[in-house]
Amino acid sequence: MSLARRRTLDGARIAVTGASGGIGLALAEEFARRGAKLVLNARRAEALTALCSRLGGDGCDTAVAVGDIAEEATRHKLLDTANERFGGLDILVNNAGVGAFGRFAEAEPANLRRILEVDFFATVELTRAALPLLQASAKSGERRPAVVNIGSILGHRGIPYAAEYCAAKFAVRGFTESIRPEFAKLGIDVLLVSPGTTDTGFFDNVLAMQVKLPWRKREGGGTKPEVVARATADALERGKREIIPSFGGAAMVRLNRWCPGLIDWYLSRYG
Ligand SMILES: NC(=O)c1ccc[n+]([C@@H]2O[C@H](COP(=O)([O-])OP(=O)(O)OC[C@H]3O[C@@H](n4cnc5c(N)ncnc54)[C@H](OP(=O)(O)O)[C@@H]3O)[C@@H](O)[C@H]2O)c1
Repeated sequence: MSLARRRTLDGARIAVTGASGGIGLALAEEFARRGAKLVLNARRAEALTALCSRLGGDGCDTAVAVGDIAEEATRHKLLDTANERFGGLDILVNNAGVGAFGRFAEAEPANLRRILEVDFFATVELTRAALPLLQASAKSGERRPAVVNIGSILGHRGIPYAAEYCAAKFAVRGFTESIRPEFAKLGIDVLLVSPGTTDTGFFDNVLAMQVKLPWRKREGGGTKPEVVARATADALERGKREIIPSFGGAAMVRLNRWCPGLIDWYLSRYG
């Protein structure tokens, strides 16, 4: 391991939520390539099992915990599986997420609740439940454990037609920043990954799509999930605290930091 590396993923016990498609699936593949042992969660059992046997065929030790991560029983199943199969957990990746797009005035209150349940509360409560396992990993001294939260550039800058999703991803970012210094004391790193538009099924899986999103010119497009996965694995190995794995996303977040009024003015065209 080079001196610049904080950890190796070879042999690391990693749990990934939302691993049946998109960024979660790409993360599972990338971690498997780097020698990790995986516990994978999502609701679609078939997709998850197929991924599991594919990765298993390539020599990766993999287990599944099927279910809705917004439910406490699923979260416990995920952690119990890690414990029973691998004797613990080194890295937790809170990736499962869902969105809804449309004008706030016409939005269903139930969608706000559901988005916060999946994107925010499940992240928080799974992190809470995983803490004893992560602390045990830290105490063993074999490798430095970590929590990875998949946020979004929309957790740095709110945009029209995405009030619920932006609120959830801002909450994820606030939570992540808040626990980072607390967890540092426990020997646990905390990484925030904030992708920009990524070429996954995300926009097909949203709870509502009531407007044509002006910044989404065509189906597909955006960063490939494999790029996000590689950047995340590299960031974990190097011990980074935060990454924005797209040039355009990073530029937007920087511009918003320097001149938020300019972005407000630009976005007001879409109000
Ligand atoms: N795509 C983008 O443009 C983009 C940009 C920034 C951030 N992100 C974030 O990246 C993360 C992954 O999104 P993605 O782009 O990969 O979307 P995706 O292709 O829709 O994949 C979402 C994954 O989460 C799982 N999932 C959804 N709800 C779940 C639940 N309640 N319990 C368990 N698993 C659940 C889905 O599997 P099942 O349906 O089988 O449960 C699927 O595996 C999300 O947090 C998203 O907010 C995405």
